[in-house]
Amino acid sequence: MRAIILLFVLTISLYCADGDHLVVGNVADRVVLADHATAEYNAFPFMKRVKYYFFSSPDNKKIQGIQVLDNLHSKASVNITAGGVGHSFVNLRMKSERGKGLSYDIGIYVSPDFQ
Ligand SMILES: *[C@@H]1O[C@H](CO)[C@@H](O)[C@H](O)[C@H]1NC(C)=O
Repeated sequence: MRAIILLFVLTISLYCADGDHLVVGNVADRVVLADHATAEYNAFPFMKRVKYYFFSSPDNKKIQGIQVLDNLHSKASVNITAGGVGHSFVNLRMKSERGKGLSYDIGIYVSPDFQ
């Protein structure tokens, strides 16, 4: 059952990788923002810029949702390379369009304490 859920989440994240944004899991209902970060890189001629983001829950809470928004609405892409929804950590890999900068708004959501 766990494996099926993981596969499902993985499939969704691969589908979302085509667009500007990556939104998986629950990011609205009864969850709290555990981390909010911005990943930015200046443009570099003819180069794709690659940036990594890592989150690890300090109190070992499971991640409920992940929202990564492309501020530039470019052809940049973002993938989960490790962890994710259902884990207490996540690794994101972001890649800009060739010759373009990178600007992603990252939100990591976990269960509230009272659950
Ligand atoms: C994310 O995965 C897709 C499909 O495997 C790939 O085309 C894309 O380059 C990857 N993006 C990053 C930032 O790793």
